[in-house]
Amino acid sequence: MEKLSIFVETYGCQMNEYDSDRIINSLSANPVKDPSDADIIIVNTCAIREKADHKAVSAVGKYKKLKIKNPNLIIGMAGCVAQLYGKKLIKQIPHLDFVIGPREIPKLRDLVFDIKESASHRKINTSMDVEEVFQISPYHETGKVNGFVSIQQGCNKKCAYCIVPTVRGSEINRPLKEILEESRLLINQGAKELTYIGQTVNSWKYEGERFYNLLDYLQELDGLERIRFTTSFPRDITSKMINSMKNNTKVCRQLHLPVQSGSNRILKLMKRAYSIEWYKDSIERLRDAMPDLSLSTDIIIGFSDESSKDFEETMQLIEDIKFDTIYSFKYSIRPGTSGELMDSHVNEDIALNRLHKLQSRQREISLENNLKQINKRYKVLVESETKNNPNEFFGRTSQNKAVYIKNIDKKSIGEIINITKTEAFQNSFIGEPT
Ligand code: 5AD
Repeated sequence: MEKLSIFVETYGCQMNEYDSDRIINSLSANPVKDPSDADIIIVNTCAIREKADHKAVSAVGKYKKLKIKNPNLIIGMAGCVAQLYGKKLIKQIPHLDFVIGPREIPKLRDLVFDIKESASHRKINTSMDVEEVFQISPYHETGKVNGFVSIQQGCNKKCAYCIVPTVRGSEINRPLKEILEESRLLINQGAKELTYIGQTVNSWKYEGERFYNLLDYLQELDGLERIRFTTSFPRDITSKMINSMKNNTKVCRQLHLPVQSGSNRILKLMKRAYSIEWYKDSIERLRDAMPDLSLSTDIIIGFSDESSKDFEETMQLIEDIKFDTIYSFKYSIRPGTSGELMDSHVNEDIALNRLHKLQSRQREISLENNLKQINKRYKVLVESETKNNPNEFFGRTSQNKAVYIKNIDKKSIGEIINITKTEAFQNSFIGEPT
């Protein structure tokens, strides 16, 4: 197959970002910034909430005119919406050439080849029964400072609201050897910081090795400066994991730990498998071990039967923990989940009001946390020059805080430098090299 130019539009989580890079590599394609320069356009979609899946269909819609101009253009939909609706999408969107589910990416090359050979065939690949789910490594732009490595596909938890097990299948853990090989590949291409990803990343286990051992192996990788991982599952925070994080010189002081609700009653309805007491105790142990640990979480507002008392317990939780960031969402009923069968759905306006109340208090907390860091020194890994501001650079602290820095030069990209934070905002800082 000649080298194709590809444009991939990505929605959703880091797993999708990673899959998009695998899509580029699987076709040995040349990524382009403008869709009208592409031979193939793929929209990689997210189905986590209803709004996200509507977005996917309209995203594909906007490429229709390019297809009219260039009938050889191939348009595909990948990701979780493709998996969820499969054939229906092919019927509904006449200019769509194929849909491909997350587990089928290793078969993409053959599929595109088939389409090119027989222009009239439209393809649906949404099997879950694929052995080599990890086979293709991601495309990595040479010199890019950070990258992702998937260590786990799918999910075995049964959270009542969540569509992930339906569209990404049950949990498959990646062999240690492959994780290390892919890490080395990215490090050789210039990556200094790698984020290890999985739906419940800290549940990873493979042939007797556990997540806490994996962190030890990763620390040994030459050239790797920083290790991040996401998303952790609260029930799988263990003392061994906490100790391993604490003693690892490369693991960043950042943890994303979705709590979903501050009410035990709602956690039970959600089938989250932990209590709020367990969650708070885990945070306490994590903070005792790593006082500079930054914490973020996910919260769903308005899950079935959430009362104002349940909601107040969630408000109390964010008051008690003082997360740096929360990602909060209004509950959206998803097809095929056990939540779909529950009744007593919360009124939309009430849910929206609660969501706004939560978000507005959290904005204050985030800013209060950040203001406490002014005039303090941090190590920042410089990632890039900012697009709109010449001579300004962007980097992150170990706590994953974004810092904009002047008075350094391009040579600092890829380096860890010392800065002092001089100004704080809700989501970022200004820093001076020191
Ligand atoms: N409705 C709203 N939010 C959801 N999430 C997952 N499923 C739903 C849903 N049905 C949120 C959770 C999860 C994050 C990725 O998306 O908070 O942690």
